[in-house]
Amino acid sequence: MKKESSKKTSKVSQKISVTSLRKMKEAGEKIAMLTSYDATFSALLDEAEVDVQLVGDSLGMVVQGQESTVSVTMDDMIYHTSIVRQAANRSLVIGDMPFMSYATPEQAMINAARLMSEGGAEVVKMEGGAWLADTVELLSSRGIPVCAHIGLLPQSVHKLGGYRVHGRDKASAKEIMQDAKALEKAGAEMMVIELVTRELAAEISKAVSIPVIGIGAGAGCDGQVLVLHDMIGIGGRYMKMCKDFMEGSTSIKQAIENYVKEVKAGSFPAKEHGFD
Ligand code: KIV
Repeated sequence: MKKESSKKTSKVSQKISVTSLRKMKEAGEKIAMLTSYDATFSALLDEAEVDVQLVGDSLGMVVQGQESTVSVTMDDMIYHTSIVRQAANRSLVIGDMPFMSYATPEQAMINAARLMSEGGAEVVKMEGGAWLADTVELLSSRGIPVCAHIGLLPQSVHKLGGYRVHGRDKASAKEIMQDAKALEKAGAEMMVIELVTRELAAEISKAVSIPVIGIGAGAGCDGQVLVLHDMIGIGGRYMKMCKDFMEGSTSIKQAIENYVKEVKAGSFPAKEHGFD
């Protein structure tokens, strides 16, 4: 009986928060993040000590079979976030704000509040650059922790005309750096940077004091995130930035543990997973 209660206490005391992530950045400890969409995987990721579980709107593709994230709704995000959260004892849980749920600061506040109170999200993530600073400032001032998402913005795929590497020319690199600084200044707690050159992502990680989590952005970021289905080889798509961690693993749990180990050691992503 005594043993059980001490186990519970240690679990709670290890719970990851935005403050822990900042301390990890300061200490040079890499942050391991993965997407997560249901309670079974949430428990597995938690046991494998994945620091952050992102309930990504990528669920539109890997769970719902759609071509993009655009059709995902607020109710979808609340449902999936709530089932992930109930099994996550240690990991920090981030919920994605879906397409057009944050088109104005007021709309963002109402929807972010739902994602936290009904879905149990501990942080909300929104895609966008400096234009989003007012929204981040409003949410942050009302006690809503925000993870910004810069570089490639999957919700804007139809406007961008496809998925491509960003920050390759000077003007675009400068703009992404300005986005990062504006969002930090507005109060973002952390940011995801997607599909940008490894050099730019490393510069941004040094230029801001908040944790920067890369996907297809090289090893110079403070942490890494991948889409779960892709890193266990069931996403049905090949991507240079991803590695199939099932290769050389005997179970999904071991593949996830290997991902955490490689991220922490700085051996994933390797040069071949990044872009110049
Ligand atoms: O929705 C998602 O899975 C994401 C990751 C690509 C970072 O935003």
